[in-house]
Amino acid sequence: MERKVELKVVNLKKYFPVQKSFLERLLSGKIEYVQAVNRISFEVRRGEVFGLVGESGCGKTTTGRLITRLIEPTEGKIIFKGEDVTFIQGERLREFRKYVQIIFQNPYASLNPRMRIGEATAHPLEIHGIATGERKKKMVFEMLEKVGLEPAKKFYDLYPFELSGGQRQRVAIARAMILNPELVVADEPISMIDVSLRAKILELMLMLKEERNLTYVFITHDLAVAKYISDWIGIMYLGEIVEIGRKEQIFSTPYHPYTKALLSAIPVPDPKREKKDIKLKGEVPSSINPPSGCRFHPRCSFAKDKCSNLKPSLKMVDKDHYVACHLY
Ligand SMILES: Nc1ncnc2c1ncn2[C@@H]1O[C@H](COP(=O)(O)OP(=O)(O)OP(=O)(O)O)[C@@H](O)[C@H]1O
Ligand SMILES: [Mg+2]
Repeated sequence: MERKVELKVVNLKKYFPVQKSFLERLLSGKIEYVQAVNRISFEVRRGEVFGLVGESGCGKTTTGRLITRLIEPTEGKIIFKGEDVTFIQGERLREFRKYVQIIFQNPYASLNPRMRIGEATAHPLEIHGIATGERKKKMVFEMLEKVGLEPAKKFYDLYPFELSGGQRQRVAIARAMILNPELVVADEPISMIDVSLRAKILELMLMLKEERNLTYVFITHDLAVAKYISDWIGIMYLGEIVEIGRKEQIFSTPYHPYTKALLSAIPVPDPKREKKDIKLKGEVPSSINPPSGCRFHPRCSFAKDKCSNLKPSLKMVDKDHYVACHLY
């Protein structure tokens, strides 16, 4: 049975104006834009994990902030459970925020240093007027225990500086989960914490997902992490999605030359197995003046003339598997 579509993103685009001094503007005579996210589309189904993967600066965080309505898109649509939420405001936006939460990349910056752990975790309950007094405290204790911060009584009164990175990220997870959301955008939730603690945090997130039938958009630059946690994977390059498929498809039959290059960079555990290294040429270009046609063409070993003039659209190559490349 196909699961229900929880989130749908259609031609989503975000351009940021480049900050320039008065003199620079006077001399250049034009406003330039960082094309952070350029017309991306994808779907996430209820209870599944959509891994959004790509190198630094490709637009992952911007996508996460767009989906959670922390910033407004330049163009495009965000559909949550069939409702167009792209520009909702006021009470409807408040309601939306109960159902859609974000866990940020940096647990050292995302917690207010002057707020005790208990207060920080209780904050969403207060904002939404869900619980006060003893009931609120009880809910916080339960949530802290759920994310492994035990005894909760002790953690309740601590300040963020008294916690390790892993513990802080557990607080961030508790705070995101306390309202019982349906969709959680997790923006590199383990990239800033100690390697030895990463698996535990991923296990915790999967446990909560199973228990509550949550839907995740899981942002990571690490394909090995995406492989562990995702059901679906979307590969981003310079603000665009170049390939989408079920996890198994992306790993067994990648189509896009960029996906192949990313995969070949993952260390192979078996030293006897030969690894075909596909090297990427050059550096990631600027998203202020991105390459014409396919944005990947200057780094692609298979680029043809067409690739520099015509932007490839996402085409279905197998059931559930899409690629944006002129080779197919
Ligand atoms: N508020 C902003 N104003 C101007 N440019 C921005 C802003 N936010 C992001 N950008 C630019 O948009 C592009 C995409 O940034 P984004 O943070 O979404 O990338 P990312 O994939 O999350 O990278 P990382 O892996 O480093 O976190 C970058 O070129 C970035 O400099
Ligand atoms: Mg980011």
